[in-house]
Amino acid sequence: MNKLETMFDLTGRVAVITGGAGLLGQQHAEAIAGAGGIPVLADISLVSVDPHSLAFKEHFGDKAFATKTDITKLESVKALLAEVLNRYGRVDILINNAANNPKMEKTADVEFSRLENFPLKQWEADLSVGLTGAFLCSQVIGSEMVKHKRGVIVNVASDLAVIAPDQRLYRKPNLPADQQPVKPVTYSVVKTGLIGLTRYLATYWADAGIRVNAISPGGIYNNQPDEFVQRLANLIPLGRMANANEYQAAILFLCSDASSYMTGTNLVIDGGRSCW
Ligand SMILES: NC(=O)c1ccc[n+]([C@@H]2O[C@H](COP(=O)([O-])OP(=O)(O)OC[C@H]3O[C@@H](n4cnc5c(N)ncnc54)[C@H](O)[C@@H]3O)[C@@H](O)[C@H]2O)c1
Repeated sequence: MNKLETMFDLTGRVAVITGGAGLLGQQHAEAIAGAGGIPVLADISLVSVDPHSLAFKEHFGDKAFATKTDITKLESVKALLAEVLNRYGRVDILINNAANNPKMEKTADVEFSRLENFPLKQWEADLSVGLTGAFLCSQVIGSEMVKHKRGVIVNVASDLAVIAPDQRLYRKPNLPADQQPVKPVTYSVVKTGLIGLTRYLATYWADAGIRVNAISPGGIYNNQPDEFVQRLANLIPLGRMANANEYQAAILFLCSDASSYMTGTNLVIDGGRSCW
């Protein structure tokens, strides 16, 4: 292995990925496994990644593991850590990736999304997964890494951590202004909050050998309606949405020693959207 390959090598390193069963979580897991690491896919629903299924074993071999976890519950996060340590004896990487992801471009149900009607329950649920979950996982799994003076945390934010949502993207014809769907306020708040958590943890644990960074992906193409895709593409200098695998290299970079002099940063990968 040459020196450059060594920098990106994750052989034997165990990476907990929250929301690991989702669209991006599975991509992160592939990136970790591809560099020799062991991804642990922690998700409240394992429907898409049954660890006992042939598909899962064919995809990841025996060097991956999926487990049911509710990151909003301290006991569940503690149980996740115990399970990981019991199985592998170590944890090296935490990717705080889980979030509630309202798909405003696909739904006609606009009742709840507008600020004036946004239910407190939904606000609490979104913050609970996106922020409290990231806090609890960082507290429990980060503290374990601190004991060994080595570890990496990556928080998955969004381009909406650095810019406001452009609500024109979600407009539907023939609806009055006060009934137009919008990206909910919680998405911006959660994603911006994660950048704050990143900076806090990066400095708090700088001398404990833990590096903490964020990644801010732009929108991923996932069969959204054509009109929405075109509107969004018009806001992006590179002229298109991302493919799901276009964040893998950045995840590998942030999780590996290749980024050894990097902490407290937000890596924005958005096709140039936020510079326009
Ligand atoms: N998809 C995009 O276009 C995009 C763009 C920018 C940022 N992001 C961010 O990337 C991350 C992953 O997005 P995605 O598109 O894969 O979303 P997704 O909805 O496919 O995956 C999210 C996963 O989180 C899990 N989850 C929800 N609540 C949980 C809980 N309490 N405990 C454990 N797991 C829980 C869900 O079951 C789901 O599998 C999110 O943070 C999202 O905001 C996504």
